[in-house]
Amino acid sequence: VPRTANPEKGSFPHRTTSFVGRRGVASSLKRALEASQLVTLTGPGGVGKTRLGLHVAEQTQRGFRDGVHFVELAKVLDPSLVVQAIAEAVGLRDASARSSQAALLGYLSGKHVLIVLDNCEHVLSACADVVTELLLSAASLRVLATSREPLNIAGESVFPVPPLTVPTDTSLLGSDRSGSQFEAVALFEARASAALPGFAVTRQNEEDVVRLCSRLDGLPLAIELAAVRMRVLSTTQILSRLEHRFELLTEGNRGAPQRQQTLQAAIAWSYDLCSETERTLWARCSVFAGEFDIDAAEFVCVGDGVPEGEVFTGVAALVDKSILSRSQGEPFARYRMLETIRQFGAERLAETGTDDQVRRRHRDYYLDLAARCDSDSGSARQLYWAARLPAERADLFAALDYCATHHGETRAGMHMASSLWFYWIVCGLVRDGRLWLDRMLAADPTASPERARALLIDGWATVLQGENKRGVELLSEGLRLATLVHDDASAAQAAQMLGVAKVFADDPAGAVPLLEAALQSHLSRGDMSAPALIAWPQLGLAAVMLRDVDRAIALTDQCRDLCAVHGERWVLSWMIWLLALSSWVAGDIPSTVAQARDALRQKDRLNDQFGLPFCIELLAWTAHQEGDPQRAASLFGAADTLWERIGGRLCGYADLVRWSSEVRDATRASIGPQEFDARHSTGRLLSWESTLASALAESGQAPSTERPEETGLAQMTNLTKREREVAGLVAAGLSNRQIAERLVVSVRTAEAHVEHILTKLGFTSRAQIVRWVASPTMTDVVATVGSSPSVDSWPDRRPRVPAGDNGTAGPRPVAGTAGGP
Ligand SMILES: Nc1ncnc2c1ncn2[C@@H]1O[C@H](COP(=O)(O)OP(=O)(O)O)[C@@H](O)[C@H]1O
Ligand SMILES: [Mg+2]
Repeated sequence: VPRTANPEKGSFPHRTTSFVGRRGVASSLKRALEASQLVTLTGPGGVGKTRLGLHVAEQTQRGFRDGVHFVELAKVLDPSLVVQAIAEAVGLRDASARSSQAALLGYLSGKHVLIVLDNCEHVLSACADVVTELLLSAASLRVLATSREPLNIAGESVFPVPPLTVPTDTSLLGSDRSGSQFEAVALFEARASAALPGFAVTRQNEEDVVRLCSRLDGLPLAIELAAVRMRVLSTTQILSRLEHRFELLTEGNRGAPQRQQTLQAAIAWSYDLCSETERTLWARCSVFAGEFDIDAAEFVCVGDGVPEGEVFTGVAALVDKSILSRSQGEPFARYRMLETIRQFGAERLAETGTDDQVRRRHRDYYLDLAARCDSDSGSARQLYWAARLPAERADLFAALDYCATHHGETRAGMHMASSLWFYWIVCGLVRDGRLWLDRMLAADPTASPERARALLIDGWATVLQGENKRGVELLSEGLRLATLVHDDASAAQAAQMLGVAKVFADDPAGAVPLLEAALQSHLSRGDMSAPALIAWPQLGLAAVMLRDVDRAIALTDQCRDLCAVHGERWVLSWMIWLLALSSWVAGDIPSTVAQARDALRQKDRLNDQFGLPFCIELLAWTAHQEGDPQRAASLFGAADTLWERIGGRLCGYADLVRWSSEVRDATRASIGPQEFDARHSTGRLLSWESTLASALAESGQAPSTERPEETGLAQMTNLTKREREVAGLVAAGLSNRQIAERLVVSVRTAEAHVEHILTKLGFTSRAQIVRWVASPTMTDVVATVGSSPSVDSWPDRRPRVPAGDNGTAGPRPVAGTAGGP
């Protein structure tokens, strides 16, 4: 399962090759970023804009408290989706009814972040619009853009990226001042020695290399493509063959600027040297918007001259030639193309006139992927999909775009957009989901089962966004249509979601009959899909709101059994959360704590951004009840960071909002506003890993036997001393890069340590390491170099009664019945 990016710290595309030179350029770029809010790196394709941007972003990462976020815009086909792409990258999972732009501006105002917008050129004016607004509303925000052309907006500082340096005077060569001090030569040497181990620039070949580099205008991409040829040719041969190619090219293309011509020549030469199959694959792979794996390539690129067995060898050959690069995906290797190379391929594909055909196969592949995700939705495969879907975002969107823009494809589009409900609703992309569903629905009003389901999913998402009236319209229409086309499953689910709309509208009594009918219908048809199963917690919540705790608990028991049939996790996590809420209402604090933690762990595994704050919030309430208002205040802060990300507290459920305010007020009263605010802001700034450790690391709970991370000391002995040290640093919230700096090792080494730790302990995420280190037996054992801030700030893990003035402070029951509302 690929690991998902941490939305707080941002994530960078992984580069597997070394970075060369650019010291002076990098420092002036850093100065430019200090001086102005927007710096745009400009220059022709292949000059190194993206690489330089990433390099400087990484180097300045520490300076941005709220992270550095990379947005790959080449993948964004539709200008209206630029704002959403930025929102996704910064970790915003806003589910409110505001416009996307308003949500983004609100979220980023006051944040100290750097946003890297890569490849703005094809969505230039959309970028210009959103960046203008961003800069006006968020003073501490910085934007680093890369684009062939400037955005042309006020406050932009344009930074043309120069080619790599090349010696101009060959008479200097052969002396002590060897050519390698020039960046272009150093890059050639680095890449050529990777292709031909042992290669070095020497007095013998220096002149050729220098001539080659200057012939290639110091363009890094052109140099890389030429250097990989060292596997079969000598420097002299590469030079003469390239010259030939240049002659051919300039004849046909006299108007284009020189560097562009150079690059085109270098790419065209690589293309010439490919076999027929490789060329076809290069062209066909250009339809992938993001990274893809071999399965996807085999499906999309096969046929019409490319037999099935040859896709694999062809992809391997293209990797060898640096046309595709392999990124470090696990457990499946993934490939990507540099934008310039992709464009070249796209042009070749267009020439063959088969691009529509290939795009359609691409769509079919991702449609099938979405359908598989949907049919796995009631099973333990949810964990896999929660991790996989974000990695496939660009191509899923490209496939949806195909459906939306091709005549006669909107029904397939509705099918696909509904099948992705898990991505929209569980992974927190409600906004994107509505956008696609609305688009498909608007394009084709004919009655069909696809339309019925699209209406239902769209209505559900709309209700979750708090637009109750619109949601009810969509759901009613969905119900009507589903009945008309005899789609019983969609009809029952539409009625169910109409019940949910009533719960949201604070009418639990009105919701009960709808939800009960849905439950019966699901049971009679044996519908065990997750959207059906979620009816149990939904009815349970209505019961809690009606103070019928016994009924909620009975529903939980039934639901647990149903979820267990196929290993369902998401519904289960809500069911456990509901159990915690029932315990809270019943005044049973210890059970509330245990259950809320259990729900939290489940949701963390699923990366359920929407559900996480519901658990933290409950744990804040219980911390207060347990007599630890300091901890409560900090947890409230942590919850608020998460609420902000989804754009609203407790979804506006009236009872929950009221209870939350009551406990907040009580906590504030018991420690005083000053301390409350201080603890609250500390909590707000905690990283997710520390929040999790803080929410879970407390004594008094019997650890669940299900968690491998708590089997403790036995595993400890498997780790080397260094690995224990690294585990401690991971627990302290350090990134791999920071660990590398602390231990004075390379980032790769730090990554390798972390991988080993994960493997040895049988874990899949860093958060598990954090929990494991923070577990009571481990804290004493792990040789921490820097200890976990979350553990530090809570040294006394027992509930304690704060000494208040006049003895009046202390754990106060929240207004209402003692021990719970
Ligand atoms: N300073 C550098 N050191 C090492 N490789 C570089 C450097 N600059 C560019 N490259 C490589 O050259 C290729 C093209 O660079 P890229 O940043 O993608 O260009 P652009 O964004 O301008 O199209 C990439 O493979 C990149 O890794
Ligand atoms: Mg680029």
